[in-house]
Amino acid sequence: MHYRTHYCGNLSATHIEHHITLNGWVHKRRDHGGIIFLDLRDHTGIVQVVFEPENQQAFYLADTARSEYVIAVSGKVRKRPEGTVNPQMKTGAIEVLGQAFQLINRAQTPPFPLNEHSKVSEEVRLQHRVMDLRRLDLQANLKLKSRAMSFVRNFLEQKDFIEIETPMLTKATPEGARDYLVPSRIHPEHFFALPQSPQLFKQLLMIGGLDRYYQIARCFRDEDLRADRQPEFTQIDMEMSFTDEAQIMAISENMIKNLFQTCISVTLPEFPHITYKEAMRRFGSDKPDLRIPLELIDLDDLLTEVPFTVFQQPAANKNCRVSALRVPGGTRLTRKQIDHYTRFVAGFGAKGLAYIKVNTITSGTAGLQSPIIKFLPESVIQAILDRTEAQDGDIIFFGADTYTTVSNALGALRLQIAQDLNIYHDQKWCPLWITEFPMFTYDDQGALTPLHHPFTSPAVSIEELRAAPEQAGSRAYDMVLNGTELGGGSIRIHDQAMQQAVLDLLGINKQQATEQFGFLLEALTYGAPPHGGIAFGLDRLIMLMANAPSIRDVIAFPKTQSAACLLTQAPGKISQKQLDELHIRLNIRQKPYDSSKSQ
Ligand code: AMO
Ligand code: AMP
Repeated sequence: MHYRTHYCGNLSATHIEHHITLNGWVHKRRDHGGIIFLDLRDHTGIVQVVFEPENQQAFYLADTARSEYVIAVSGKVRKRPEGTVNPQMKTGAIEVLGQAFQLINRAQTPPFPLNEHSKVSEEVRLQHRVMDLRRLDLQANLKLKSRAMSFVRNFLEQKDFIEIETPMLTKATPEGARDYLVPSRIHPEHFFALPQSPQLFKQLLMIGGLDRYYQIARCFRDEDLRADRQPEFTQIDMEMSFTDEAQIMAISENMIKNLFQTCISVTLPEFPHITYKEAMRRFGSDKPDLRIPLELIDLDDLLTEVPFTVFQQPAANKNCRVSALRVPGGTRLTRKQIDHYTRFVAGFGAKGLAYIKVNTITSGTAGLQSPIIKFLPESVIQAILDRTEAQDGDIIFFGADTYTTVSNALGALRLQIAQDLNIYHDQKWCPLWITEFPMFTYDDQGALTPLHHPFTSPAVSIEELRAAPEQAGSRAYDMVLNGTELGGGSIRIHDQAMQQAVLDLLGINKQQATEQFGFLLEALTYGAPPHGGIAFGLDRLIMLMANAPSIRDVIAFPKTQSAACLLTQAPGKISQKQLDELHIRLNIRQKPYDSSKSQ
């Protein structure tokens, strides 16, 4: 084989007259008036190679080339003739006059064309991921991820963090998802769990005196998947001793800012700190997208006496809220679109979506269009218009229900409408910190559950925690960027009695606690330093930095929405022999899940 002297994508006018050799894949082949044009591709890009009939042997061989054939080409770089320069192409000012052609390997016709932006279903792309990986945009994402990991390692090492591997075969680490389990052959009826995060181990490392730890760590969570979730994903995981929130937030903010600057030349603005309470009140979300200039405005105090029970009852109930979302230019929404949004918020539990269209504000109620103004006194309508700062052309949407339902429904509507009507600030990147999370929330069954994980330090004393757990704040924080939760962490409990109190409140009795986290509880009795940390979702981070539509576009071999790998067909069946060795008898009652049906 003729070894390359240059890479395709790096050739430019500076190489004119140079004799070079390239290796790569035939991206595209065209014949024009007895001349053969091959676009040759390697991981750096594409360059045009021209074979003219004068060079009989090379011309004859090049004529056999087909898409995705692997070839070596030698020739001379020359300026493209007048009028044939392609400004769309990085190498579009030059071409290579092919003088020798070597066929290295043939290829079947690809399952989908790589040389045009045709609409290929993601299912087909994932089945043929190897071919899909030849796309340069996917390669660019993976390169960015590699650069980002390298940057993070350097940054943290300079700050005296050391990378320590923690086990993959371990016990359950509770982060709120189901565990992936691995049966033990040697210990019948016993299972390892794959880690949902290195949480417990990084705390043990701090108690072990390692001071500053980080790891680019694989995590496994068997949970419902969405566009920004994978069952197997990577965290930039960090932990520090003798520290507090301010220091951890400062170091990690500095890391993220420098990462953006170094890898994609983006200068992130200041990170505002917004409390959880304020975020829910103003944006109906604990991961607000601050690129959107719309906010929820509470109206409860105006509506406690109105004769419209849909508003009056929640307004008078402290667990409920009545809020408005004013959308500039919203009067152009049609009845059909409003019905569509009403169904949209119903998906979040809202029982309706009242609205007022503000046509001409100076004409009083005659200038308004709404199914609810007939139920509201004029003074109240005026007060609503004043508080929302309504102007001609606006639509005001209303939510009235429990605090959570209104926040979820109007929070989601805010995102959807901003997208549909393209309502964004000029600022492209809007990072922030969410602070002062509550310690607990209630799950669907009404049981107390930790909002982060049960090792998060409460911001109150043991006595205060026991007296009113639902009111206790925690020392947790999240970093949010453009509406995506990039990372989250907290100061941990380093006091055994406090840890026990939290587990008690969660209804985990002593025996369960000992079985599940006895090793941590014991370690806490041997002089645990105050410690805390954070973990960033690396895949999500790269997805945002690369502006990729899905987390699957930044993972070389991702899983589908139904947690399967279409390339390797994992998960797969195992043999009876393996089952016997693992002491497992299958008990299949239902038809197995068909992953091909729910992409
Ligand atoms: P948490 O569960 O918030 O915290 O996870 C940290 C970050 O990991 C990312 N992430 C995911 N990315 C892709 N797919 C998933 N399924 C997925 N789940 C989470 C998110 C998230 O912000 N041990 C704690 C951290 C700590 O307290 O230090 C933890 O794991 O970006
Ligand atoms: P109704 O009296 O049920 O016909 O409702 C009158 C208007 O109020 C309709 O536009 C409904 O969509 C809206 N609506 C009903 N319930 C709610 C609610 N809980 N929150 C907001 N709007 C509502």
